[in-house]
Amino acid sequence: MDIENSEIKTEKSLGTPINIREMRLSDLKSLHSMYDSLPDEDKRFFHPGFLGYKSISFYWLLFQPILVLSSFKSIRRLLLVLSPIVFLPLVAINKKGMVVGFAYLKINRRLRNGCLHSSLGIVVEKSSRGIGLGSELMERLLELARKEKICEIYLTVHSDNIKAIRLYKKHGFQEVGEILDWWKGKPFLSKVMKKVVGKD
Ligand SMILES: CC(C)(COP(=O)(O)OP(=O)(O)OC[C@H]1O[C@@H](n2cnc3c(N)ncnc32)[C@H](O)[C@@H]1OP(=O)(O)O)[C@@H](O)C(=O)NCCC(=O)NCCS
Repeated sequence: MDIENSEIKTEKSLGTPINIREMRLSDLKSLHSMYDSLPDEDKRFFHPGFLGYKSISFYWLLFQPILVLSSFKSIRRLLLVLSPIVFLPLVAINKKGMVVGFAYLKINRRLRNGCLHSSLGIVVEKSSRGIGLGSELMERLLELARKEKICEIYLTVHSDNIKAIRLYKKHGFQEVGEILDWWKGKPFLSKVMKKVVGKD
């Protein structure tokens, strides 16, 4: 299926077709606004550090140009060779053109065998949950990972984030460890999960 322009309609869909495609520069404002609109509990679960106009920090500023440049396919090709960090960002867009879901792979390093090592993040706006969007984003992301020769994907998830853990397990991620994640000065126990791409 063509990742660039694929429409999903799920059984439980509210009758609103949602389009999943690679992120474009024009999506950036809506993406940040969607993140800002999330309740605090969601931000505890998902705080990549480079989303939301309310969360601007040194890290946010550092990663913004990489996120922007990664949204141009031709520049991304170049970044894959030159930059230690590259994003593969996907968005889910509703009929009004607003971002209602976001998922990304962040390529962190190249392994000795030439394979790419990446981390993953995913979020669906609250009113669009439970209709299969998270799963669809995940499937498209894994498709993209195979295309870009990513071999390993790691993620961390708070131990009480039951929905996300179920989503990850459903797509073949396995628990490989535990770490502490800090949010607003408090530590939260998190699971480290891993998927070897292509081993399904
Ligand atoms: C996790 C998240 C992305 C799931 O998105 P979604 O669009 O609701 O997911 P889907 O409807 O595609 O459901 C996919 C799977 O997630 C799990 N899931 C979704 N809703 C669930 C619920 N209420 N209870 C338990 N599991 C649930 C299930 O495994 C489900 O698959 P199944 O229905 O076949 O069992 C969404 O809840 C979210 O954005 N949460 C806040 C941000 C976050 O936690 N991100 C992950 C950070 S590590």
